Amino acid sequence: MCGIVGYVGSDENNTMEVLLDGLSGLEYRGYDSAGVALADNSIDVHKKEGELSALESALPDTTATAQKESVGIGHTRWSTHGPPSDVNAHPHTDADRRVAVVHNGIIENYQTLRDELVDAGVEFRSDTDTEVVPHLIGTYLDAGIDREAAFRRAIDRLEGSYAIAAVFEGSETIYAARKDSPLVLGIGEEGHYLASDVPAFIEYTDRVIYLDDGEFARLTPEDVIVTDSTGTVVETSIETIQWDAEDAGKSGYDHYMLKEIHEQPKALRQCLRGRLDELNGQVELEELGDLSRTGPVQFVACGTSYHAALYGATLLRERGVSAQAFLASEYDAEAIPVGADSMVVGVTQSGETADTMRALREANRAGATTIAVTNVVGSSAARECDYALYIRAGPEIGVAATKTFASQQTALTLLACALTDQGSRNLVRQLRAVPDQIQTVLDTSRAREIAEVYEDADAYFFIGRGYHRPVALEGALKMKEITYKHAEGFASGELKHGPLALVTENTPVFAMVTGDSEQASKTIGNVKEVEARDAPVVAVTDGQSNVGRYADHVLEVPAGDEITSSIVANVQLQLVSYWVANRLGRSIDKPRNLAKSVTVE
Ligand code: G6P
Repeated sequence: MCGIVGYVGSDENNTMEVLLDGLSGLEYRGYDSAGVALADNSIDVHKKEGELSALESALPDTTATAQKESVGIGHTRWSTHGPPSDVNAHPHTDADRRVAVVHNGIIENYQTLRDELVDAGVEFRSDTDTEVVPHLIGTYLDAGIDREAAFRRAIDRLEGSYAIAAVFEGSETIYAARKDSPLVLGIGEEGHYLASDVPAFIEYTDRVIYLDDGEFARLTPEDVIVTDSTGTVVETSIETIQWDAEDAGKSGYDHYMLKEIHEQPKALRQCLRGRLDELNGQVELEELGDLSRTGPVQFVACGTSYHAALYGATLLRERGVSAQAFLASEYDAEAIPVGADSMVVGVTQSGETADTMRALREANRAGATTIAVTNVVGSSAARECDYALYIRAGPEIGVAATKTFASQQTALTLLACALTDQGSRNLVRQLRAVPDQIQTVLDTSRAREIAEVYEDADAYFFIGRGYHRPVALEGALKMKEITYKHAEGFASGELKHGPLALVTENTPVFAMVTGDSEQASKTIGNVKEVEARDAPVVAVTDGQSNVGRYADHVLEVPAGDEITSSIVANVQLQLVSYWVANRLGRSIDKPRNLAKSVTVE
């Protein structure tokens, strides 16, 4: 999804360098073109379709080294209105280049505004919704209105979602506004920053202000002023980010994804820290205060987070709570219905996913108690909900979610214990063991060999029951996302009701079987059905059952209970997908067509 950056600071800083660093820190969000605008006595715009490197090589040398401009904005665009092209790339300007604008979000009434501007004689250059903004500002400037008022008046006309930043010729100020799209301000020694997300400026400052919906910001080299929609100054608090630039780097790994897979033991230790009382078998979640549950629990989430939500709902149901997971895009609070005794849990790594945000807003309007289970402190979901439970995974840059999934599973296990007052000594002890068990998998996994054997497969299938079903779905999603090959995950029992028709000797089936319960023996039955049809079977198992006897390959996990071993088993699947994608030479960290943070519905 689009990313925006802005910098205003002292002349010693190289504004262009700060902006390009910022854009590279936002690359993970996914984009198809990029651009920057520097403001001085005039406005200089450079924009290019393709990767950031295309923009960098299109920059004239003089601009790349220019020191004089102390204010600029930049953008990575993920196309919504109009295809990726130099012209559609941001920033956009008014006809006289007095103002340049970058935008993340969707302006829903852009066609009405565009028609109005065209009738007034404005010529549009791009297909974007964004271009109406600089033209609107331009018409207000023409009417003699000052810059800030012109900016505010233009923003007032917009319907939809936006994080917007604008710079003007002859001004050392960035004006910004947000509604339903993320925007964070950075308070540095050498100047002030703004961005869609903190990695854009973390190498310059870790002190941030999160802008709220409906707020405006004015950034100059000297200060940052935040105002509400009426122009009244808002008291803000500066927060300090708890991770640094190194956490957001690759640390010697070839890909962020591989690094993040390896960070899982650390991420889960962080997630558990201070939250387990082993002596009493209790879970303590400070953030949830005195929260208690009476009615049903609904989870809303998308993509990988939806798989974590399925896992969370299974946990609660097993503990006697009526719980259901919904794809956020399909959630309809009226039809379900949701009431004051309902609890709605939004599971979202970024805390910004538009579908999840809409569902949470609906739930709030219906009077439900809402909880955001998220990785990003101060994110939109954290702000929208009554409570926020942080998964504490640290920054995740790879588009394909890995450590955040394990951290979501862990946080949801904690939440289930807290909501049902049933910590249980055993589960608490098992949770504590998970980071070491994952480390064992990372140290001993044979996933790379399996990837070598099956890199040419026609398709990959994943099966699991109970807690392993969400992992089967997640295993398939990971495989699709980064290898671009066909992969499907099924509840083991469903295989025979249709998908079995797809199974051939060229479709390996990954079966999750841990423990030796009835569930496990049923899945072993499904493995036999597959085997009888000549499909290769890879069992992910702790060796407690005899599934190994029917499998062509085994990926081992340490023995644990079914709840926590599904967290560990998933790591084997992440590694298989990673190594298949690696062998196929795919763009692992930035898969084609995908974005990390999807801020449109
Ligand atoms: C995008 C990402 C997925 C992610 C989903 C939900 O589609 O590519 O990896 O699972 O959004 O993201 P969230 O931030 O809400 O967890």
